[in-house]
Amino acid sequence: THQWRGIIEEYRDRLPVSDTTPVVTLREGGTPLVPAQVLSERTGCEVHLKVEGANPTGSFKDRGMTMAITKAKEEGAKAVICASTGNTSASAAAYAVRAGMVCAVLVPQGKIALGKMGQALVYGSKILQVDGNFDDCLNLARGLSENYPVALVNSVNPFRIEGQKTASFEIVDALGDAPDIHVLPVGNAGNITAYWKGYKEYAADSVSTHTPRMWGFQASGSAPIVRGEVVKDPSTIATAIRIGNPASWQHALAARDESGGFIDEVTDREILRAYKLLASQEGVFVEPASAASVAGLLKAAEQGKVDKGQRIVCTVTGNGLKDPDWAVAGAPQPVTVPVDAAAAAERLGLA
Ligand code: F0G
Repeated sequence: THQWRGIIEEYRDRLPVSDTTPVVTLREGGTPLVPAQVLSERTGCEVHLKVEGANPTGSFKDRGMTMAITKAKEEGAKAVICASTGNTSASAAAYAVRAGMVCAVLVPQGKIALGKMGQALVYGSKILQVDGNFDDCLNLARGLSENYPVALVNSVNPFRIEGQKTASFEIVDALGDAPDIHVLPVGNAGNITAYWKGYKEYAADSVSTHTPRMWGFQASGSAPIVRGEVVKDPSTIATAIRIGNPASWQHALAARDESGGFIDEVTDREILRAYKLLASQEGVFVEPASAASVAGLLKAAEQGKVDKGQRIVCTVTGNGLKDPDWAVAGAPQPVTVPVDAAAAAERLGLA
């Protein structure tokens, strides 16, 4: 009869809250860690998927947003603002509803998936489409939060990182120790920063015996960290990670170097291949950006960088239903049949 209480209640002693903090929650976290059979076979490793699309608004952002909105509420904020490629805005909008706050979101015009736009609308946020990319939106949001009475809830807000680090706790709690390798998609680089912080905290307190190597993957058209320079006009079908100047760039480099990991890129083609594999072979439907982690693992395996027998966790960050265009694109149209069992059986190859 006990349900998961949300990350703040589950990990209260490891988060910056007190007995009087007004917790704003949708009972996020507690997401499935799913053994990946086909990926394990292909790599000769024990691969698990941390399925973050199972969160209340369909992405990992909810872990950070419960903390950010809770702290904004505690500090008396009446309104919050964020820049987003779609998931942060969906999450901010939902938690703002719970907190009774106004939520303003800035999104790059024409570059966010329909499901995410639908979320921002139905949760009742104030949406501005900006004639620019995500990096422009973030600059605008920062400026507005500095000059107007509105709290910024992007991952430059340290409470976001605090909330998101709980995913590492859940993984160690489930596996009994840290994995050998942790693989993530990288966009604005907040999540890799958060996971690394979580793993370090558990290791420092001897909850785990070690920390994993952190492997991050950017989309080739939006790979500033890999290139070592800002990408002025980022492009990729994985709109969630279409980012040319990540806010947590330096933290991502620290996670990479302190953990002995690396940050590499995957092409849109590799992302789509992993996207289809995850759904059709593992039964896990994710959005394209989320498939970048798995695409990266497969690329690394093909390059001989993955020693056999290791325990690997790939975070798949968002739900496939947010951006189903890529599931439908290129797929054959289902055939239409009359209301007739014989005809249906024949079409299904049963007859
Ligand atoms: N995967 C998904 C589905 C995302 O939405 C994001 C980021 C990432 C991966 C990358 O995470 O930025 O912490 O490195 N989405 C942000 C947004 C930018 O606005 O929703 P990151």
